[in-house]
Amino acid sequence: MKSTVIYNGKYKWVAFGRDQDKPEKIIDTNQYMVIDGSRSLLMDPGGIEIFSSMLASVLRHTDIDSITDLFASHQDPDIISSLGLWDEALPSATLHAPWLWEGFIRHFGLSNIKYNALPDEGLSMTLNPARLVFVPAHYLHSSGNFHVYDPEARILMSGDVGAALESPGASMFVSDFDEHIPKMKLFHERWMPSNKAKLDWIDRVRKLDIEYMAPQHGRIFKGEAVQQFLNWFEQLDVGTAIK
Ligand SMILES: [Fe+2]
Ligand SMILES: [Fe+2]
Repeated sequence: MKSTVIYNGKYKWVAFGRDQDKPEKIIDTNQYMVIDGSRSLLMDPGGIEIFSSMLASVLRHTDIDSITDLFASHQDPDIISSLGLWDEALPSATLHAPWLWEGFIRHFGLSNIKYNALPDEGLSMTLNPARLVFVPAHYLHSSGNFHVYDPEARILMSGDVGAALESPGASMFVSDFDEHIPKMKLFHERWMPSNKAKLDWIDRVRKLDIEYMAPQHGRIFKGEAVQQFLNWFEQLDVGTAIK
């Protein structure tokens, strides 16, 4: 598993991805962690299949007792099916995840970790001193879904929004937006069910100051590419694959 530091200020943001050891037919995922002294937040920690590789990678950046918080944007297996294993590894941690999916996510195994049910309107939390905002992103694609915004680092972790289907070993950053479009088009047309939800989210996100938009699959958008993505997504007709 490759790790890339995407912000290094008073605290750190690290992206994990491009796992060379993952089984061929499972979708490649990006995992993110904010490391802030004695506290860390691990976001969309991934599926059972990549747990051991993720644990090893995470421990290169922080010690196990400092991973105090987990976040699941929604209920999908590629987001959080590793929960039962993290539950053994981090028994004192708190999982922040949509209230809507609590009864479902618990099926992945949760006996020790505390479930903090996020209300539909979102919440913010502080680590030490990083402040993170859980921004509503419902129906993009899951009906109960959040992104994570960091106003100091100017990063939006955008879950499945901005996802691309990439070849193994692809770069972690978008360098040519137009060339990137074909890798995102089908994903957004088919997995995103609602134009109304899409426009509502774009409106909310345009008010944020974002330098990096970091999705759960594919490449990270930086600077101008963030605005190019919002403009492209705005005009894309989604949720219409079944005519
Ligand atoms: Fe998903
Ligand atoms: Fe996903």
